[in-house]
Amino acid sequence: MQKASALLLALLGAINGVAARPANSSSSSVKVRWLGDTPKQSIGTTFGVPWPQGQFVPEKTAFTLFGDNDEELPLQTWVTGYWRDGSVKWTGHAIPKSDNISGEYTVHASRCSKDKRDVEGLAVDDSDDQVTVDTGAISVTFPKSGNAIISSIKTAGGNTVGQNGKLILHSQSSVHDDVASRASSSIDYSNFESNIEGVEVSEENSVRALVTVRGKHQLSSGADHDDWLSFVLRFYLYKDSEAIRIVHSIVFDGKAQEDFISGLGIRFQVPLKDEKLYNRHVRLSGVDGGFLNEAVLGITGLRRDPGAAVRTAQFEGRELPDESTWDTRVTSRLHWIPAWNDYSLSQLSPDGFTLKKRTQPGQTWLNIPGGTRSGGLAYLGGATQGGLAVGLKDFWKRYPTGLDISNAASDAGDLTLWLYSPDASPLDLRGYHDGMGQDTYREQLDALEITYEDYEPDFDTPYGIARTNEIFLFAFDSTPSSDRLSELTDYINAPPVLMAEPEYIRGTKAAGSYWDLPDTSTPRRASIESHLDFNMKFYESEVENRRWYGFLDYGDFMHAYDVDRHTWRYDIGGYAWDNSELSPDLFVWLYFLRTGREDVWRFAEAMTRHTGEVDMYHVGKWKGLGTRHGVLHFADSAKQARIGQSQYRKYFYYLSGGDERTGEVVAETLDTDQTYGILDPLRKVRTDGWTPSPGNPVTFSLGTDWGGLAASWLIEWERRGPRWEEARDKLLGTASSIANLKNGFVTGTGLYTIRNATLDAPPTDPNNEGVVDVSHLSSMFGLPEVLWEFLDYMGDEAPEGFEDAWMDYCYYYLAAAPEQVARYGASFRVSLRQAHSRLLANWATKNGNETAARQAWSAYFDTDGLRESLPWATERIEGSAVLTPVDEAAWMSTNDFAQYGLASIQNLALIGDSLA
Ligand SMILES: *[C@@H]1O[C@H](CO)[C@@H](O)[C@H](O)[C@H]1NC(C)=O
Ligand SMILES: *[C@@H]1O[C@H](CO)[C@@H](O)[C@H](O)[C@H]1NC(C)=O
Ligand SMILES: *[C@@H]1O[C@H](CO)[C@@H](O)[C@H](O)[C@H]1NC(C)=O
Ligand SMILES: *[C@@H]1O[C@H](CO)[C@@H](O)[C@H](O)[C@H]1NC(C)=O
Repeated sequence: MQKASALLLALLGAINGVAARPANSSSSSVKVRWLGDTPKQSIGTTFGVPWPQGQFVPEKTAFTLFGDNDEELPLQTWVTGYWRDGSVKWTGHAIPKSDNISGEYTVHASRCSKDKRDVEGLAVDDSDDQVTVDTGAISVTFPKSGNAIISSIKTAGGNTVGQNGKLILHSQSSVHDDVASRASSSIDYSNFESNIEGVEVSEENSVRALVTVRGKHQLSSGADHDDWLSFVLRFYLYKDSEAIRIVHSIVFDGKAQEDFISGLGIRFQVPLKDEKLYNRHVRLSGVDGGFLNEAVLGITGLRRDPGAAVRTAQFEGRELPDESTWDTRVTSRLHWIPAWNDYSLSQLSPDGFTLKKRTQPGQTWLNIPGGTRSGGLAYLGGATQGGLAVGLKDFWKRYPTGLDISNAASDAGDLTLWLYSPDASPLDLRGYHDGMGQDTYREQLDALEITYEDYEPDFDTPYGIARTNEIFLFAFDSTPSSDRLSELTDYINAPPVLMAEPEYIRGTKAAGSYWDLPDTSTPRRASIESHLDFNMKFYESEVENRRWYGFLDYGDFMHAYDVDRHTWRYDIGGYAWDNSELSPDLFVWLYFLRTGREDVWRFAEAMTRHTGEVDMYHVGKWKGLGTRHGVLHFADSAKQARIGQSQYRKYFYYLSGGDERTGEVVAETLDTDQTYGILDPLRKVRTDGWTPSPGNPVTFSLGTDWGGLAASWLIEWERRGPRWEEARDKLLGTASSIANLKNGFVTGTGLYTIRNATLDAPPTDPNNEGVVDVSHLSSMFGLPEVLWEFLDYMGDEAPEGFEDAWMDYCYYYLAAAPEQVARYGASFRVSLRQAHSRLLANWATKNGNETAARQAWSAYFDTDGLRESLPWATERIEGSAVLTPVDEAAWMSTNDFAQYGLASIQNLALIGDSLA
């Protein structure tokens, strides 16, 4: 702790003497750097910066930005989080497009009246029927109703290069069980387009404008169907930028048995009327920066040669010389050369894409040699009129995806990005078994004994799950070089990220003080660091080796390993997809915070985009709850707050400068407490006969349930969201109730009254005489991290007795049975000792007790988790025993990956000095 505050003072002085501006007691300078290599360019970037408590009051602080040469640069700033005293905890910042990138920047905060200089920002026009944003490089119009999400994209050069942008959805009422059943099918097919229900635009637009468009997909043709598949599109536009970043989110609000998505995409029209066919260019992204370079009317490879200058110009995407300069044997016969109207690239697996083209509907497709992994960018446009490129981040990782160019020989071509390719089998969200007769809780619990799946009829529903994709659009006044498109492909797949240094973040305590920087100064520390590094790299490579990719799946990993089959247990009940079990999210984010490693950021971001979307419900009666690990992300019947845990999203939310989609997911969990009135998490194992009813007090656990609710309340309070006072009252009310329970956290569950935000003793103990009901899982889903941050946030003003109640839990969980009996009148089962060593470490630090610190280390080393004596290496398995060669660590499980990581990081930060 002392180390941290000394560091903080140093930071507030000047950072390593490199600060671009002098910092003094009323100002401070923070360096931010690009993760990984400095990019060649930026299309505009948003980032987050933490600040120590009590330093800066929002209204009296000016934030400025300096580049490499101490030159002031444009900066837009907003506050994303506050300390309890109202001082700034987290800021979000945006910088404009730049081709001249600094390797590092300095954000300077100084106490003074706010800078009122007029900066010429983006021009935003918000009228009754549309919003127009002009970045200086492009002007984009967003209609407020109808089916066009963007009506036009116009370049500063005066070309309209995109128009009539729409979301596209195709669905069908059923799927064929096999090919023969197609002969007798009665499947209904429906086609949908976006229908806009609301459009909002940001108020502050000096560097970045954000347009948010909400709606549903509406029937455009085919079998009748209600509007469905709600969407939220967030369009980010930066000053001077010709690019638009789109965060595209959908919520599945259909029926698994009747609504099969057979195509989901986004389409833009590219006007081509005044462009000659041989000046129209098609570019489709291939492998490792490669491109298919074609023209709608090709003049290369012909029997008669128009001349090298003509051929080269076409291949390079330049306007062809005047026809009078060509060989007349070509110009007299141009009308015999077929024009290629349609192109289609399908990435139906992470291992390969196919490619084809045709002259028009009704004629056969011609195969074009394909490749393995497409970069996911397509361009359509002309040499003189310009054009549009669209790309999807993680295109092949999110298979089945696709890129289509159609009507390229007509007056307006279409450019379609498929987030779900129509060439794939339809998205089938039905359960994977029929229940096998598990009609009663008794049968369901018995089945749990063998497959570890917690099944219940009708609970394996996808209704309410979501998915978010990141799409990029680029406008051009003429066809760009393919090298340029190649750079953009790299860009969209690894958008540059600006980040403060781990040391600085640690010093502010804004992301908690329960982690510290890697330190390899002693052999034992070095050994733990090498294990953490091994674990991280192992999971990164397992994503690739085990092909943990796909429309819904990318960002998740498996829970447990099958040593006999040399495969993860992808088909065994509760052992398959991990769905945040035991908090791998927390380990990976803390590992990022302490290392600042780019690979870890990319892994963590993909995970957060998955666990916060697919694994939880965003609408409906279970909104805010997530689903326990299972064969399908939504199959298991345990729908719990521990999976919707907002602490898992918190690091990304603040570090990204307040990613609006993530902020929305966190806000959705503010109603999770309502779900306990209709769904009792303990319904299958309860012996006290209690049943929930809406509007009446409900019971939930003080660990996984309250821990999840508390995280959401604290974030809402920190960011002073629209419901922050309600959230604060619920957090403080329930925390002080826990303090009032005779046995505090050891009570296990409580009876919660939403109306007055109090928790009473559980129904089995109406007089609060003291119950002992401890679960080994209580503190495995973010509770310690939430409480560290909450207690830090409260300082000396935490509800009376609350910290003591938590400290008791931290101490007694690992204490000897007689000590537990002496304190609570009963002993409790203890497992996950390694994982809980960090709780004892917390107690030891708080009490300055060296004996306890050494006991914590012994629970960590001499233990049930990952031991020092493990191989900490993989073993190659190949040949006929496996489908493809694998590098196996049969001793690894994702529970251990997560909790070894957390225990290591937190013990090192808290009691590292006691490590012999
Ligand atoms: C502190 O820094 C600010 C901003 O650079 C400057 O305006 C102010 O004069 C400085 N104060 C002192 C006491 O040096
Ligand atoms: C790039 O920025 C540096 C200072 O940050 C400046 O000296 C240089 O002239 C700039 N180059 C271009 C091409 O704008
Ligand atoms: C909150 O409401 C419940 C249920 O009506 C009641 O039992 C409890 O005493 C109330 N608590 C406080 C502090 O008012
Ligand atoms: C330190 O903690 C141990 C238990 O780990 C306890 O037995 C001992 O009394 C404590 N020492 C002090 C001085 O509190």
